Amino acid sequence: MATPSFQIATIKGDGIGIDVADATLAVIEAAQSRVGGFSLNYQEILAGAGYYRETGLDIEPDGEKMAGVADAIFLGAIGLPSVRYEDGTEIAPHLRLRDIFQLYAGIRPIKAYPNAPQRLADERAAAIDMIILRESTEGLFYSAAVHNRCPVENDAEVQDTLRITRKTTEKLHDFAFNLARKRKEKGTKGIVTCVDKANVFKSMAFFRKIFDERSRAFPDIEKGYNYVDAQALDLIRKPWDFDVLVMENMFGDILSDLAGGLVGGMGMAACGEIGDNHGLFQPAHGTAPDIMGQDKANPLAAILSGSLMLDYLADKAGSQALSDAADVISDAIQSGFSKNSIRPAEFGGDMGTKAVTQEIIRHIQS
Ligand code: IPM
Ligand code: MG
Repeated sequence: MATPSFQIATIKGDGIGIDVADATLAVIEAAQSRVGGFSLNYQEILAGAGYYRETGLDIEPDGEKMAGVADAIFLGAIGLPSVRYEDGTEIAPHLRLRDIFQLYAGIRPIKAYPNAPQRLADERAAAIDMIILRESTEGLFYSAAVHNRCPVENDAEVQDTLRITRKTTEKLHDFAFNLARKRKEKGTKGIVTCVDKANVFKSMAFFRKIFDERSRAFPDIEKGYNYVDAQALDLIRKPWDFDVLVMENMFGDILSDLAGGLVGGMGMAACGEIGDNHGLFQPAHGTAPDIMGQDKANPLAAILSGSLMLDYLADKAGSQALSDAADVISDAIQSGFSKNSIRPAEFGGDMGTKAVTQEIIRHIQS
């Protein structure tokens, strides 16, 4: 049988996006050599604020098409504070990619690692292991994604729209329950919490109604509910109680940063954005231009996103080898932290981007 082969589109972007993307590709290569049984071909797409400054385009002319034919897209980070679109907003072609490819399921894992910062003075904090599932195409980002979809925009008033559709919400909740089921097989609690504001907004009551409808197909998974304000409180008070949390786009944008702060901050914030036919993987952090080119960036958010990408391809292709390669990377990170051999400068350690990357590769090869 021929070795299954996958096409990966890479968008390295700006600032530290380039360093952490290179680090991730090196780690993936090590995992691939270790496990074998599949091959990956890369095609780089030029995009970002630097590219915009040079060309007036935020992504190369065929870039969206190239991303569309790939089996997965890997993105470093995009944006430079000094470069803006004419309307003053930041260069963000990836918001458009979410929209074009309908990448509705934004997976943001929040997991405590030994010897990484834990912000809560409670020993239960070591057990934090949850996924914030952020709807990523509609909600309050609906007006922001592609064109200007503001219903009112003049100098006296501006309105944005919060849009919840049945079609996307059904898929989102199914994704949440399936994810909880898959995680439960590996020992997690098997609970999905619907985070909303159903006590105030009709759109949110609709979101919750669809959650209840879809939950009936998953009797093995427990259901929970929380209003978003109470959820913010509970993420500080008892984050170890949660498993999968499903929510609207803007709520997920905010709570995923807050939850990330519990376990080491944006340097650990991995992200996968998945639709019916496409997946884009990127660290949730920005380009940190103040430290670019200094070997200071923590590559772990990107490398963890790389592992999510291999898992996604594994599911798509039904490939055990890809799933093993994803595990080899996450195990190397877990074990490196346990042995205190991964000590990122971001956490006051002595290891820059390259040293952290080399250490993970060493673990994978040993
Ligand atoms: C994120 C980021 C983006 C978002 C920005 C950079 C457009 O904050 O991925 O969370 O708001 O979605
Ligand atoms: Mg954000």
